[in-house]
Amino acid sequence: MTAATGHHVKGFPETVSVIEVGPRDGLQSEPEFVPTDRKIALVNGLIDAGIRHLEVTSFVSPRAVPQLRDAADVLAGIDRSKGAVLTALVPNAKGAVRAAEAGIDAMVVFMSASESHNLKNVNRTRAQSLEGFADIVQIAGEANIPVFGAIATSFGCPFEGNVPVSAIVDIARAYRDMGITTLSLGDTTGMATPPLVQERCRALGEAVPEADIALHFHNTRGVGLACVYAGLLEGVTRYEASIGGLGGCPFAPNATGNICTEDLVYMLDECGVESGVDLDRLIRVSRQAEAVIGRTLPGQVMKAGPRLQTYGMDSVATANG
Ligand code: COA
Ligand code: ZN
Repeated sequence: MTAATGHHVKGFPETVSVIEVGPRDGLQSEPEFVPTDRKIALVNGLIDAGIRHLEVTSFVSPRAVPQLRDAADVLAGIDRSKGAVLTALVPNAKGAVRAAEAGIDAMVVFMSASESHNLKNVNRTRAQSLEGFADIVQIAGEANIPVFGAIATSFGCPFEGNVPVSAIVDIARAYRDMGITTLSLGDTTGMATPPLVQERCRALGEAVPEADIALHFHNTRGVGLACVYAGLLEGVTRYEASIGGLGGCPFAPNATGNICTEDLVYMLDECGVESGVDLDRLIRVSRQAEAVIGRTLPGQVMKAGPRLQTYGMDSVATANG
């Protein structure tokens, strides 16, 4: 079943894109290296469930993120026949060359809105990051590959606290000036709240109207889907999530998983918003992910089942006390 079944919530978009980031954001922080064939099976399962946009890996330094050192091999094994758009993080020219050679569909450059997180994550200042993107844009352009831009710590920084709206707007403008208008606002450590989402979406919409924004939340403080709800009210049509709620950034203290893909699809279905994703199949992939990782994942719908899953009355005892 891929049709949204709930009553459409007034003011919400009719359709949205669910962007799966578990294979990158999730698997990058797993303590054990996940074998390449398992990563490929996970991605192919997600594509079979109807996901059409996935961040599948990163072409970063294998010393910084050893979990994703098999980036090119993962890409080579993914089923491209359904036309899913496969993206990967690219931090520098070396990564851009590797990603182009591996046949990536779009490169995602990334930097943090806060200086200290940028230093921790990529070992350079924000100004140095922006300067370095020119090379990536050139390499991607020569290979005819689009470049997207991510802004980490968009809703708060684990080292600095609040992040001013102006920091995000400045980066979005710098991206736009480089021709990058497909953007993602990352909530690296789960500091987003619905009012912050509203404020930041509106500010960006005014300052950089050509930007097409995706929202990337982590459920660290339990309000991830409430933040999606706020984004939907602002008309945002692209949301990043990870299967089963896998994940957490290894370069931020106490970071936990992304919002969970199947919980997101469940909410969209019940709000009458089409995503093209089959919830039942997604739940099966989520259980498969749990088996691959070898521990319980935080996703809730994968445990409870869809809303109308019913049980025989004799499946539980009758109270008689
Ligand atoms: N792919 C493969 N290897 C790379 C690479 C890339 N994109 N970029 C750098 N390297 C290698 C270099 O060749 C060098 O290797 P060597 O020492 O064997 O010669 C080593 O990594 C260091 O390179 P350098 O350019 O000095 O980078 P750095 O140590 O300052 O690290 C980054 C900078 C950006 C490469 C690194 O911090 C990184 O990959 N960060 C990614 C973090 C991330 O993915 N975060 C996700 C969001 S939470
Ligand atoms: Zn993230």
